Amino acid sequence: MDWGMENRLSQLIQRDGRSLFLPIDHGYFQGPTHRLEEPGKTVEPLLPYADAIMLTRGVLRSCIDPTNTKPIILRVSGGTSVVGEDLSHEGITTSVNEAIRLNASAVSTSIFVGSKYEQETLMNLAELVNQCEEYGIPVMAVTAVGRELEKREARYLALCCRIAAELGARVVKTYYCKEGFEKVVKGCPVPVVMAGGPKVDSEIEVFEFVYDGIQKGAIGVNLGRNVWQHDSSVAMIKALRAIIHEKATPKEAQKIFDDVKVTKDISYQR
Ligand code: 5RP
Repeated sequence: MDWGMENRLSQLIQRDGRSLFLPIDHGYFQGPTHRLEEPGKTVEPLLPYADAIMLTRGVLRSCIDPTNTKPIILRVSGGTSVVGEDLSHEGITTSVNEAIRLNASAVSTSIFVGSKYEQETLMNLAELVNQCEEYGIPVMAVTAVGRELEKREARYLALCCRIAAELGARVVKTYYCKEGFEKVVKGCPVPVVMAGGPKVDSEIEVFEFVYDGIQKGAIGVNLGRNVWQHDSSVAMIKALRAIIHEKATPKEAQKIFDDVKVTKDISYQR
């Protein structure tokens, strides 16, 4: 592997082989998502506990302090919105030159397997890989499900992850599923990270799926809403960090969460 590629990947995947990515890119199709109205303010107390942040160039430039941040995974696909016709109709929005100028450690694009624009999004990924490999920049493929959350079952997720890896993604983001997740990871020859999806009511649910997904081979998470939409977002990210990097069980993570929460979690002040 080229030095540059290896160096960038090592900024993302830590020495223990694990990763905690914090995505705040949701506004690129959802607009000012709840608790991401001011992304800089939301993310600031969480940054010390993230291994990388995932976001678009617009939010990076305007909301993130360039002298005090974490490795950047630059979201370079978009062009759709929640009120538009089809979320899968994405194009590449950001050039590789721009990614280099912004000192990105990786770039990411979504693929929508089984959608009307499957072929376009897969070719977006393939072309992005062609360009990024020239400069040693890893591409993270985001296996998107659009509005169809029921697609989160092993057979479909395994198909998406494998296709992303075959097209050259260096890391793949997918969803966790209770049944057969080990097959999703086994069938994907590059590291897999798990997204969280919409915020759930109880934090233990999140700790349990992250723990189980890691036992089944995922290297970590790319998990947003269940951290920063939580009233105690610092407690959440600290507890997740313990599962990912310190082998904490869900019960131990819950204890960390409870301890941080009662002491002083000032994560989000409204
Ligand atoms: C949005 C994304 C997100 O980065 C990804 O879904 C993870 O975020 P969350 O945990 O909130 O689902 O790709 O398009």
